[in-house]
Amino acid sequence: MVRSHDDHEASLMNEGHPIFAALYGPLDFCIERLWMGERRARLLKGARGAVLEIGGGTGANLPYYRDVERVTVTEPDPFMRKRLGTKLADVPVEVSVAGTEALPFPEGSFDTVVTALVLCTVQDQGSALEEIWRVLRPGGRLLFIEHVRATGATARWQDRIEPLWGRIFGGCHPNRETVAAIGEAGFEIEMFESFYPPIPLSGLMPHVMGSATVRLAA
Ligand SMILES: C[S@@+](CC[C@H](N)C(=O)[O-])C[C@H]1O[C@@H](n2cnc3c(N)ncnc32)[C@H](O)[C@@H]1O
Repeated sequence: MVRSHDDHEASLMNEGHPIFAALYGPLDFCIERLWMGERRARLLKGARGAVLEIGGGTGANLPYYRDVERVTVTEPDPFMRKRLGTKLADVPVEVSVAGTEALPFPEGSFDTVVTALVLCTVQDQGSALEEIWRVLRPGGRLLFIEHVRATGATARWQDRIEPLWGRIFGGCHPNRETVAAIGEAGFEIEMFESFYPPIPLSGLMPHVMGSATVRLAA
């Protein structure tokens, strides 16, 4: 049987990434204190009502949810799920094993969807964004913090390192045009800012943080 690259990625996700999951906690502990904690706090102030968090990893966002009703966290990787500390949240948290490309929730079930360093990793970014759009209610909001494709020669470097990068970092693609993809999925970008985190070689890894809405029908 011939397996495509996508089949390979899908089976890796089903099996999970034990080494990446084990290293993610300590890695995140460092970036959290350097810059990501402050960004998470700022981004998640915008979360309201019923929240869906995509690819919750080790649960780093959970302590930042305050004025929300409930949080549903999807996490398809069993090794990450094992480390998801739902006790950190002040609000009710439910965990789902679903991948973003096929979310088991009815249309319009959430007021807010959150992606943090996830749209770089989902297997099919277009389908994932379509699903996020479907489960958000009209007027609902996508809050995102993601690393994205650079420009010029740096982008070409990202293309070169992509295969190795993906193997090391749990299937991550460093070179995706995520803000454009959010717009193409039909979202209206409300605000976004680009930044470089204060880490070595950060020029290779531009980040964006922002929000986008599902337009209310006229
Ligand atoms: C770099 S980690 C980010 C974790 C967390 N969001 C954070 O901010 O620390 C990427 C996460 O996305 C999850 N993931 C990968 N593919 C996914 C998919 N198709 N649907 C949902 N989550 C996925 C991975 O299992 C992993 O936990």
